[in-house]
Amino acid sequence: MRTIVANWKLYLTPRESAVVARRLMKRLPRSTRSALTVVLPSTSALAAVADVVRGTRVKLGSQNIDLATSGAATGQVSARDAKELGCAYALVGHSERRKEGETDALIKEKLGVAADEGLTPILCVGETARQRKAGAAIRTVVGQLKKTLTGWQGGKLVVAYEPVWAISKAGRGAAASPDVAFAMARVVRAALKKLLKARASRVHLLYGGSVTARTVRQYVDGTHFQGALVGFASTKADECAKMVAALL
Ligand code: PGA
Repeated sequence: MRTIVANWKLYLTPRESAVVARRLMKRLPRSTRSALTVVLPSTSALAAVADVVRGTRVKLGSQNIDLATSGAATGQVSARDAKELGCAYALVGHSERRKEGETDALIKEKLGVAADEGLTPILCVGETARQRKAGAAIRTVVGQLKKTLTGWQGGKLVVAYEPVWAISKAGRGAAASPDVAFAMARVVRAALKKLLKARASRVHLLYGGSVTARTVRQYVDGTHFQGALVGFASTKADECAKMVAALL
């Protein structure tokens, strides 16, 4: 099974998100072999999109979760609420969250919260341009995996390799070449094997960073990557449906 995870970031309002979700439902290929499609609307759009995708093949996820699931935690995103709204997935450790100060230690705790609430975490790892230039790409990514997954006792897990320098700003960006991405996929796989032993083979690995319908197949070859995490391009229903179709 191939996976497309559509990370809508803050690109769409709740109303726009519901419209795109409805359009996407109409345009998705009918085939039962269809790739698994997961949409991650903004937190304020979760409820609206949940109403559209409930009971369909499209799965819902949260772009972030907090450590607190309820109580005195002003302005936070509760994993318990996400679950109640129908989320099956939670993105954890996206670089746009790390930039806001999220550490690997915090991300590790969030992975535990997601698992406890029955959400499948999608853990993001990736190096910055500066780290790559300094020859520290592998060390950075392996370090992130070690610090967040050592002692992982949860169940299902998805890992996304997103080189920070390849992530687009509203569609402007330059993806890593498939060769560069594949080289890191091998590194991530090897690290996962060490950390998770036999369970590592069940982990789906996604590539993320400026993927489009035209390029998605170059990355999702089934060997290195089993899916893609897509931001800007996934906010257009046509393009998103094309990506799913491209993986059939
Ligand atoms: P992008 O975003 O596809 O717009 O580069 C990917 C991501 O950050 O998940």
